[in-house]
Amino acid sequence: MSGTANGSADNGGANSAMAPGVNGRAYPFVDHEYDVVVVGAGGAGLRATLGCAEAGLRTACVTKVFPTRSHTVAAQGGVAASLGNMGPDSWQWHMYDTVKGADWLGDQDAIEYLCRNAPEAVYELEHFGVPFSRTEDGKIYQRPFGGMTTEFGEGPPAQRTCAAADRTGHAMLHTLYGQSLRHSAEFYIEYFAIDLIMDEDGACRGVVALCLDDGTLHRFKSKKTILATGGYGRAYFSCTSAHTCTGDGNAMVLRAGLPLQDMEFIQFHPTGIYGAGVLITEGSRGEGGYLTNSEGERFMERYAPSAKDLASRDVVSRSMTVEIREGRGVGPEGDHIFLHLDHLDPAILAERLPGISESAKIFAGVDVTRAPIPVLPTVHYNMGGIPTNYHGEVIASTNADGNQMVPGLMAIGEAASVSVHGANRLGSNSLIDLVVFGRAAADRCAATIEKGRAHAPLPADAGEIAVSRLDQTRYASGGTPTSALRLDMQKAMQTNCAVFRTGEVLDEGVEKISGIWNASDDISVSDRSLIWNTDLVETLEYQNLIEQAAVTVNSAANRQESRGAHAREDFSERDDENWMKHTLAWADTSERTVKLGYRDVHNFTLTNEVKYIPPKARVY
Ligand code: FUM
Repeated sequence: MSGTANGSADNGGANSAMAPGVNGRAYPFVDHEYDVVVVGAGGAGLRATLGCAEAGLRTACVTKVFPTRSHTVAAQGGVAASLGNMGPDSWQWHMYDTVKGADWLGDQDAIEYLCRNAPEAVYELEHFGVPFSRTEDGKIYQRPFGGMTTEFGEGPPAQRTCAAADRTGHAMLHTLYGQSLRHSAEFYIEYFAIDLIMDEDGACRGVVALCLDDGTLHRFKSKKTILATGGYGRAYFSCTSAHTCTGDGNAMVLRAGLPLQDMEFIQFHPTGIYGAGVLITEGSRGEGGYLTNSEGERFMERYAPSAKDLASRDVVSRSMTVEIREGRGVGPEGDHIFLHLDHLDPAILAERLPGISESAKIFAGVDVTRAPIPVLPTVHYNMGGIPTNYHGEVIASTNADGNQMVPGLMAIGEAASVSVHGANRLGSNSLIDLVVFGRAAADRCAATIEKGRAHAPLPADAGEIAVSRLDQTRYASGGTPTSALRLDMQKAMQTNCAVFRTGEVLDEGVEKISGIWNASDDISVSDRSLIWNTDLVETLEYQNLIEQAAVTVNSAANRQESRGAHAREDFSERDDENWMKHTLAWADTSERTVKLGYRDVHNFTLTNEVKYIPPKARVY
């Protein structure tokens, strides 16, 4: 279904304007004006959309898929908040775990903001109507997740992850969409955002999008543009991410001449189904599941004697990889690991893990009550993204005077690097990030946008860059299909920017990705139409992916230490003296080169109620 879900085609003061012709072809614009335009309708995008609409701001949400198909729908295990329903807990313990999980690359002011606001954000979801699973006495059910502890890491595991069975993201997404409609937010559904509109002073003034079902081009003028476009897992060959996860907002930021942050930190989820990559929630280990090798050994006891299978994801993924490398993998080729749930009560599996029981049957042919699931670490999450403060405002760069912000531009969710996840995200901290910072961004818009104030006129060339890229891509007539370049990129990233890394392998990755990026001049698009042209859209998405692959592999080759998900075999220790800093990466998309710089990690908290947590060895 395309078009606006709850409005007519001329919502937002739309009218038509002729864009300048490109190569003799005219591309008329439909113009719109809003206070806020949110790009993306996953958990973060919807929470921001509903917050802005509720505050009385004229708000549009532009999304390339129907909102309830956004990738948040696939989130399974739950949303972290220290409610303390299943045992003692506190937001300060949650903060400690998050700082440690992030391997001291997270900004502690932002982490404090996340953890202290998490309980309220979950109660808000409950009141919005999210059907959480319940305890015997009717409270929200909470399960253990990796790296979540009590007593500042000294106590037993915390039961902190609030769950709606193993379909928590699904429940949240549907509820947030309903709430957004209730507050009369306007949706532009199946609109593909092409590029930001930036003015000569470096401010963002809106975005240009293509309506996929009728080929019309839309120019959205906004006082604030919020990018909530998710991650770019599809730069890899095997990932848990939907095909739509192409990081479109990240790439728009690069093309606007702005940097991305900490792109070298790619999370591999320990339990993707072998071969299919489909997610088996960490909640399955939270409910008592465990991993074994070909000798039937519960090997995590060796690597993480205390947390075992519930160590943080980077630790579990590396341990599995070592087991396979050392010849203790399972299966005919010894190339994966078993996840056991077959010792658990079938009634518990049916009640708490129905979704993954079904996925295991469909994608691995396994009845989880009788046999283990074959699993393998699979790309799952991007810790890096668009640098922001904890209000969601985008940082252009940092100098002696502090952060230089980009007027008019915000980013939230997986697209953003706030940075609360630093070098490694803890499971279930993603869903809470979506709603806490989605709401923070809406609050910031409500506090800073003057309702009724007229928009400044757009720059004379507004939208020309987007149209020219669209036209060039639409008529690309080289000899290499997009699918071939995309596959080469995905295989290079899978091989050369993996769980374990060395300088040699990363440098080879830099060369390979640069070669593929340059080969994009020879791309061929065979469908010239503008209506439901999947060839064209996949090519625009590929362009987005290759730019992010380039900054990722360059950032990884540059960081000469091991921290969180970035495990260098040639620099196996964390080096706080030289590398406790964020990487910033800029792409020159004409020259196809990458430039790197740095930003300080925020080693200070937001309030005096909690102290800065100094670095120490990260053991589980
Ligand atoms: O394992 C999971 O359910 C995934 C959760 C997450 O990435 O936060």
